[in-house]
Amino acid sequence: MKKTLAIEYDEYASKGELPIADQELIEAAQRATEGSYSPYSHFRVGAAVRMKDGTIEIGSNQENLAYPSGLCAERVALFGASARYGKDCIIKALAIAAVDGEGKAAEASPCGACRQVMIEQEQRQGCNMRILLPLNDGSVREYNSASDLLPFVFAAEL
Ligand code: THU
Repeated sequence: MKKTLAIEYDEYASKGELPIADQELIEAAQRATEGSYSPYSHFRVGAAVRMKDGTIEIGSNQENLAYPSGLCAERVALFGASARYGKDCIIKALAIAAVDGEGKAAEASPCGACRQVMIEQEQRQGCNMRILLPLNDGSVREYNSASDLLPFVFAAEL
């Protein structure tokens, strides 16, 4: 039997249609690209997470000559935030922004490994996190939960 899976998400024509707190989060992700260490890909990614107490924590991609040793911006931000805060619903939202090798704003839809980590963060904290992605045409996509981004996520009783 064939089955179909659909996901729902929102798109806003411009950042200005979002609540101020979300606009700030996107701007923090854009600023966070400045901390990127990306001499190999020249693709600068910034991530910003909105914590339960309103604080914003940031991360950026950190590459390494031994390529797999580097880490994406999202995981730098998420792991850093969860190392510093408690565990109950600590992260409310995550914004991701990028700048390409020519210095132009670029889209950075999160990679599969980051999606897996985002979902486990939701499971750990017992709450979803919204994900905000500024797109190249100036619009913003919003997912309500990381679980919308990775159907059939790896799950096991270990
Ligand atoms: N990267 C991120 O930091 N986040 C993403 O969502 C996609 C890719 C990084 C990894 C690498 O440093 C560079 O972007 C190019 O792949």
